[in-house]
Amino acid sequence: MSYLEIRGGRPLSGRVRVQGAKNSALPILAAALLAPGESAIRNCPRLTDVSATLDILRLLGCRVEREGDEVRVDAACLERRDIPHSLMREMRSSVIFLGALLARLGEAELSYPGGCELGPRPIDLHLASLRALGAEIREEQGALLARAGRNGLRGREICLSIPSVGATENVMLAACGAEGTTTIVGAAREPEIEDLQGFLRCLGARVSGAGSPVVTVTGGAPLHPGEYRVMGDRIAGATYLCAAAAAGGEVELSGLDPGTLTAVLDCLERAGCEVHTGGEILSLTARGHLRGIGAVRTAPYPGFPTDAQAILMAALAGGEGSTLFVENMFDSRYHHVDELRRMGAEIQVAGRAAMVTGAGRLRGAEVRSADLRGGAALAVAGLGAEGITRVTGLPHIRRGYEDLARDLRRLGADVREIPG
Ligand code: UD1
Repeated sequence: MSYLEIRGGRPLSGRVRVQGAKNSALPILAAALLAPGESAIRNCPRLTDVSATLDILRLLGCRVEREGDEVRVDAACLERRDIPHSLMREMRSSVIFLGALLARLGEAELSYPGGCELGPRPIDLHLASLRALGAEIREEQGALLARAGRNGLRGREICLSIPSVGATENVMLAACGAEGTTTIVGAAREPEIEDLQGFLRCLGARVSGAGSPVVTVTGGAPLHPGEYRVMGDRIAGATYLCAAAAAGGEVELSGLDPGTLTAVLDCLERAGCEVHTGGEILSLTARGHLRGIGAVRTAPYPGFPTDAQAILMAALAGGEGSTLFVENMFDSRYHHVDELRRMGAEIQVAGRAAMVTGAGRLRGAEVRSADLRGGAALAVAGLGAEGITRVTGLPHIRRGYEDLARDLRRLGADVREIPG
């Protein structure tokens, strides 16, 4: 079993270019299905979740090629409309293909994506919204059988009771294939939604409002292939900033929009770090122990991202003073806490709340990632800890980081991936 070996307790110094965003690349690749012909998607990160998405595209009949950071998807002829369970279970976000296939072919057969390591993740809002657009969807023995009703897909107002990222994206894709105008009220405002809008527009789709709570899509326009560059990954960026905050030192990130990280930067500044932004360069300096910062509540964008909760907690656990984390987005997102405790962290969990009392300095230990961001958090903790930390469970981490050890080394960390 391969693992990361981290010699912690030494300050970082270096610069890294942040990879393209996982959560943009996945829906954008699915959206490439909408346009017959070859689209080029640049800054597409090399992640296992992206490989799983490319496998789905190939299975559906697309020609897919990668050269460097560019992926070319030729969706001229689709041969299938069904995605088998073996591919669906790789990644929960593959449910995005429901909207894409309905828009392009008017039919889709997927297996139910089910739960995941963050607890139950329902798709009721996806299904209700697509039904409201005129899709007939049957749920049979773990399968979702969807087809556009007799009158095809029809645009209308869709009100989301929760600003779900995935449901907003699924409706945006399906609405491109619907007659008339769809207005999504209560849409998610995440920057990745704006990135999807950017790609859809470059295919010729009429989409506006992304980044605000109301997104409008006027469907029916013929789409053509396009070329697009995926935005930088704000959660990978947050990981590297928290690594420097935990270990101390001075790091510089490029390749991402600092404006997408405002909530995280605010926390790091309150903890005592100095942050500077200029254009696409983001630098952070950390000296001495981090301070407790009161409360951190995860919330939809522009609130504090749930995907950065474990990572910030890992940094603050080795600081001084208390911080109360409240996880409002997912039921089961504290798997990293027991592992951080093995490193000497003092954390009490009660339901959605986790009270972190800074332990001054963590100590290296053998720990196991149970999920993607929880795994990255253990690496962050290891960099700030005295001694050697070994992190197993690397398949989780590879879902979202091209090469975490490589990037941390570029920032001056002593980290190696030991093959197993
Ligand atoms: C996306 C991100 C994930 C991030 C999450 C929240 C991708 C590929 N993944 O996941 O990294 O952690 O946003 O920022 O972009 N919900 C329902 N019914 C639904 C859909 C969602 O109740 O039909 C609930 C979920 O259980 C959760 C909340 O809404 O409590 C937000 O989930 P959602 O925004 O949909 O997350 P994902 O799109 O799955």
